[in-house]
Amino acid sequence: MYKEAAILQEMGYTLWQLRQNPPEHGELPKPPVLAEKIPMPEAHALEAALDGATKSALSGLASDKRAATIATLDWTALTEAIQDCRACGLCARRRQAVPGIGDRTANWLFVGEGPGVEEDAKGEPFVGQAGKLLDNMLAAIGLRRDHKVYIANAVKCRPEGNRTPTAEEMTVCRPFLLRQIALVAPRLIVLLGKSAAYSVLDDDRNLSVLRKKPLSFGAIPVVVTYHPAYLLRNLPEKAKVWEDLCRAREIFQESENSILAEGGKK
Ligand code: URA
Repeated sequence: MYKEAAILQEMGYTLWQLRQNPPEHGELPKPPVLAEKIPMPEAHALEAALDGATKSALSGLASDKRAATIATLDWTALTEAIQDCRACGLCARRRQAVPGIGDRTANWLFVGEGPGVEEDAKGEPFVGQAGKLLDNMLAAIGLRRDHKVYIANAVKCRPEGNRTPTAEEMTVCRPFLLRQIALVAPRLIVLLGKSAAYSVLDDDRNLSVLRKKPLSFGAIPVVVTYHPAYLLRNLPEKAKVWEDLCRAREIFQESENSILAEGGKK
């Protein structure tokens, strides 16, 4: 059995969908090999890689002065600005802000809601139970959190009692997330849950509406799916997340193919 199938079984998936259409020799197909993107480590080089549509989506959103300033920060200044931020009430009870983690030249950006108790203690997103499930979700599509993946949240400070951040808190924190998108310049964004969808897409429709829609942030394709914490409480929804992740992988692979056809440019 392939590792992917073992991981899915561990996640509690049944692989009925794949069996409906069995490959000839009864084995599961191998996940596509995710080709490496050309390394472009400098922040300005990464931004240069953003197409015009994504740049204009970002600049349209960076309208006020604070947002406009954040939109110019490099990684070091951005991390400091997040750690020192006092722009909303969430700073009062945090142990520390949780900027994000992963590969700063990632192809894949995953966005969650906000840090919980464990993330607040460690300063890293998705380290609790939901994080373990997220790691399994990543592994199911051949990804690891430290390789070509960046993980961020809609809000960088823990809402007390793990409540959902308010629309205002997300709006105040949004410039940080937008700057992370600009610096990472990912090829695909996966939004985990309603808060992430609201923060990035400014869309508060239900996930049942957004999940299967062809969405984008500028020219970066976006896939919306359920948050891992929701899945922990609603196990039957895992099949839908698997569907969404497969769609994300297909979209990524298509963009990879067209980049390779164009001669390997990002
Ligand atoms: N849930 C989130 O949305 N983000 C985290 O970092 C942890 C749990």
